[in-house]
Amino acid sequence: MPEIPLEGGFVTRVVRVGDTVRRVPAERSGFVHALLEHLREHSWPGAPRFLGFDAQGREVLSFLPGHVAWRPEDAVAVRTFDALRGVARLVRELHDLTAGTPLAGASEVVCHNDLAPKNTVYRDSGAGLLPVAFVDWDLVGPGERIHDLAHVCWQYLDLGPGWTDAEAAGEMLHEMVGAYGPGACEDPADLVDTVLWWQDRCRRGIEEAARRGHPAMIHLRETGVVREIEEAHAWTLHHREALLRGLRR
Ligand SMILES: Nc1ncnc2c1ncn2[C@@H]1O[C@H](COP(=O)(O)OP(=O)(O)OP(=O)(O)O)[C@@H](O)[C@H]1O
Ligand SMILES: [Mg+2]
Repeated sequence: MPEIPLEGGFVTRVVRVGDTVRRVPAERSGFVHALLEHLREHSWPGAPRFLGFDAQGREVLSFLPGHVAWRPEDAVAVRTFDALRGVARLVRELHDLTAGTPLAGASEVVCHNDLAPKNTVYRDSGAGLLPVAFVDWDLVGPGERIHDLAHVCWQYLDLGPGWTDAEAAGEMLHEMVGAYGPGACEDPADLVDTVLWWQDRCRRGIEEAARRGHPAMIHLRETGVVREIEEAHAWTLHHREALLRGLRR
């Protein structure tokens, strides 16, 4: 069967073979596969199924048909209230399915840790594109609900200098937190501060891995991703109060 390269990834070479996807497993693939198995046992449709390994040692996952919003213009097209609320609800399902399990350990839940439009499969139900599943589970691990929720707010709203009205961005944050439901953050300030924490963590992570010679991270640095994250962090810090006004609406 032919191998068709899939677009939207910048770290792993991912190909489609029939109804499956093949990718080099992550460092902590044992945990990833245990989580995917747990989600399968609960018949959760929001993640691919882990089907084993192929002769080249690549992990075999089910291919999820739909539209992955990996281009910048795709990400803008899925920034509708309905799609954003849908993402928040999917994250809630993931968290509720893992809360209190051995996979979450001493933490609240298992977090995906890389939720973004480029890792989300959308389908058109007749009322526009809506999220149905997440891919790219390499960075999953035990974590707190607010971690994924803040990452989602940063990535799906593209919080940063592209926004001219920070309070309007804050109102969209309010919608997403509402769609997630109670229990992730009592104080809206925690959400904005966790966005800042993520932005700082991602920038440092890419810089450090690039310094160690990781080719994909060098590529990200060279294509301006580190600078973009720095600018997004500066914007979020500068507009913290306006974001909070929108969030507390
Ligand atoms: N199970 C799947 N079903 C359908 N498409 C998939 C699946 N897994 C991956 N893809 C597609 O392949 C692309 C790359 O996969 P993936 O996100 O796993 O790679 P990556 O290089 O680790 O990504 P990143 O740059 O986000 O770290 C995705 O953006 C998506 O378009
Ligand atoms: Mg990806």
